[in-house]
Amino acid sequence: LGQEMIHKQSVTSTQLIAHQEAQLGAAHGTLIIADEQTRGRGRLNRTWHSQKGDGIWMSMILRPKFEPHKSPQITLLAATVLAEVFKKHCGIAPQIKWPNDILTEGKKLSGILTELQAEHDQINYIVLGIGINVNHSSDQFPEDLKDQATSLKVETGQEWELKSLIQNLLSTFEKRYEEFVEEGFRSVKLRWEAFGYRIGEYVTITTHQHEWNALIMGIEHDGALKVRDEDGKEHVLYSAEIKWRRG
Ligand code: BTN
Repeated sequence: LGQEMIHKQSVTSTQLIAHQEAQLGAAHGTLIIADEQTRGRGRLNRTWHSQKGDGIWMSMILRPKFEPHKSPQITLLAATVLAEVFKKHCGIAPQIKWPNDILTEGKKLSGILTELQAEHDQINYIVLGIGINVNHSSDQFPEDLKDQATSLKVETGQEWELKSLIQNLLSTFEKRYEEFVEEGFRSVKLRWEAFGYRIGEYVTITTHQHEWNALIMGIEHDGALKVRDEDGKEHVLYSAEIKWRRG
């Protein structure tokens, strides 16, 4: 993975380039990486701030052989890899907020955007987008993100070399990806739960524009979020937004 690497100085979004390359036949594991994105995208059509030199903005093309319904598990797999590397490489204590945010001290450090291209119940390709705030100082975040976002530099008080961080991410991802292909999601679940954010605590959950309180129980064998509402009823969620700034 990452053997084929396309490095650009400035792009609209590495996601967009990855889709184009994938449609032109780029191989499994091709990595698109940029110093700057002028139109970085987050989940739910949000903007992702990706200034020059401060972070890692990359998208990887994957061509797995499993069924399309398993593709959300790739997001959780990537989240565990990021958490594992941030912990080992940078010595911080990351947490994963289902499904795709890496937080530390409740602030967002990194996000994942997984996009699937499938046909006839077969995966054509997946674009796995990863954004990491690395060398931002706290005053570099836009005003509206200041109390929600953080960077490795803010958390550790030192600058990080992007290249070795990327190499570490790629080699760890490759190892965990192989385990996932061979052993299935079981191998991811335990790691994920070790980093899971607010497991056993009440949070506010939004599903279909409806807000309710629930206790996070963990994840299911397929990566879905398991919660218990205030009446004691259990729910398995495939799509939901967790509010993490409550209280
Ligand atoms: C999120 O937390 O909402 C997901 C953020 C994903 C950002 C990355 S940066 C590299 C890739 N290119 C994009 O435009 N987005 C992803």
